[in-house]
Amino acid sequence: MLLVDRISEASSFIQPFLNEAPEYAIILGSGLGGLSELVENQVIIDYQDIPHFKVSGAPGHIGRLIFGRIKAKAVVCMQGRLHYYEGNDPEDTVFPLLVLNALGAQTLLVTNAAGGINTDFAVGDIMLITDHINLTGSHPLTIGNEQGLHEFIDMTYAYTPALRETVHAAAKKQGISLQEGVYLGVRGPSFETPAEIRAFRIWGADAVGMSTVFEVIAANFKGMQTIGLSLITNMAAGILDEPLSGDDVIKTAAFAAQKMQNLVQEILAEL
Ligand code: HPA
Repeated sequence: MLLVDRISEASSFIQPFLNEAPEYAIILGSGLGGLSELVENQVIIDYQDIPHFKVSGAPGHIGRLIFGRIKAKAVVCMQGRLHYYEGNDPEDTVFPLLVLNALGAQTLLVTNAAGGINTDFAVGDIMLITDHINLTGSHPLTIGNEQGLHEFIDMTYAYTPALRETVHAAAKKQGISLQEGVYLGVRGPSFETPAEIRAFRIWGADAVGMSTVFEVIAANFKGMQTIGLSLITNMAAGILDEPLSGDDVIKTAAFAAQKMQNLVQEILAEL
């Protein structure tokens, strides 16, 4: 079945449950699922009930859409995302976002847990993503011969400059000191080697993670505005003389989630 038809089937299934069209799609990263508690008047739909949706098996990811309002803005939160490292096809990882766009979402606010490459960063910092490097070796829009998917998408302003200003203003209001930088997306699921991290730093990367780049490409394909926020859950491999663990990533994310919640709420108030 063509991607456009799958998108249309999934959005037609969801539509009758909604009180209003979502304007903002918010992707909740590892350990940040609690952000969905901010949503008022919730309408919850499990991924497993939606035609053509796959279910994420990654730790810290549940797998449901939560529609409603935050600061009077119509939002939908994706609680649980699909990762490329789980063996999903790249296009499957962006399918939910394409459906949310079909339902009306024109702005993407994507969050993730990431390793800090920039040694000025500290664990618990939030980094506003200014740009990315897609090192997954793949791309979400390379499937088949379907019309319209093979466009040469402009990525010059992938992380909407005007919205970055909005995020800075929101952070200031909340007294949150914000880092800024380039996110490098890898496939995973292993963490990186110290040599890889040294190489990435030379390339200009400030943080590394296993998500986000496909979603941001898909958002730009659909002409959506984009905000990207990384929670630095650990310093990247080799920076500190200690091993990395997925459990620590989730624990730190949960610990720092309140700061991310405050920021997201203030951003929506400012938008
Ligand atoms: N590397 C890759 N992905 C990550 C990391 C990391 O250090 N931390 C959280 N997600």
